[in-house]
Amino acid sequence: MIYILDTANLAAIKHCNEFYPLSGVTTNPSIIAKANTDFWPLVEEIRAIIGPDKMLHIQTTQKNAEDIVAEAKLIKERVGGEFYVKIPIGEEGLKATMQLKKLGIGVTMTAIFTPTQALMAAMAGADFVAPYVNRLDNIIGDGCEVVAEIVSQLENYGSPCKVLAASFKNAEQVHKCASVGCHSVTVTDDILKMLISHPMTDAAIAGFDKDWHGVYGDKTIKDF
Ligand code: E4P
Repeated sequence: MIYILDTANLAAIKHCNEFYPLSGVTTNPSIIAKANTDFWPLVEEIRAIIGPDKMLHIQTTQKNAEDIVAEAKLIKERVGGEFYVKIPIGEEGLKATMQLKKLGIGVTMTAIFTPTQALMAAMAGADFVAPYVNRLDNIIGDGCEVVAEIVSQLENYGSPCKVLAASFKNAEQVHKCASVGCHSVTVTDDILKMLISHPMTDAAIAGFDKDWHGVYGDKTIKDF
C-alpha cells in the first residue's frame, strides 16, 4: 500500500512525514485555498519537507489541454522532484495527459467516479487514477466497490496505471479499499492516525507499563 497525505497543512505534513511510511503529498485547489496563503512558497515548502524523492501531486487550475500542459511544465520546473500533475477527467484532460506522457511528466487523473472514466484515463497514459470514495458513498454509490472494479479492470488490461483512492472520511473506507487490492490511498493526518489507533492496543501498553513499573520502578533495561 502506498500512503499519501491529502493536505497542504505544513505542520501535519512535517509530523506525518516523520512518523508514518509516507510516499508523498496530494493537494487540490480546495485544499490549497484552505491554507489561504501564497501558492509558490506553500508548495515549495511542502517539497522541502518531503524531499525530492517523495511524490508531490498538485492539481492544475487550467481547463484546456494546451494550458494544462503549460501549467504542468511550470509547476514541475518550480517544485522539481517526483511530481505529478492532477488533472480532472474530461476530453481536454485526456488530450493533455497524452501530451504530458510524451514529455515525461507524471499525471494523476482525478475526480474519477466510474470505472469507465478510470480505464480511459489509464489508456491515455495516466500514472494514477483517483476515485473519490466518500463522495461516492455519500450518494449510495459504494466507493470501495468502484475502486475494486477499477483495480480489476486495470489488471485485466495489464495497465501500469495505479489506483490512488481519495476522498476518505473514515478508516473503514481505507481498510475496505486495501482489501480489494487498491494500490494507494491519499488520506488526511486524522485518518492516518485512525488507521493505527485501537483501544485494545492502548490497554495492552498500559498493562505492560503497570507490570514493569510494579516490579522495577523507574528502571529501564539499560539500568540493569
Ligand atoms: C484527492 O486529492 C482529492 O482531491 C481529495 O481526496 C478529495 O477529497 P474530499 O472529497 O474530501 O474533498
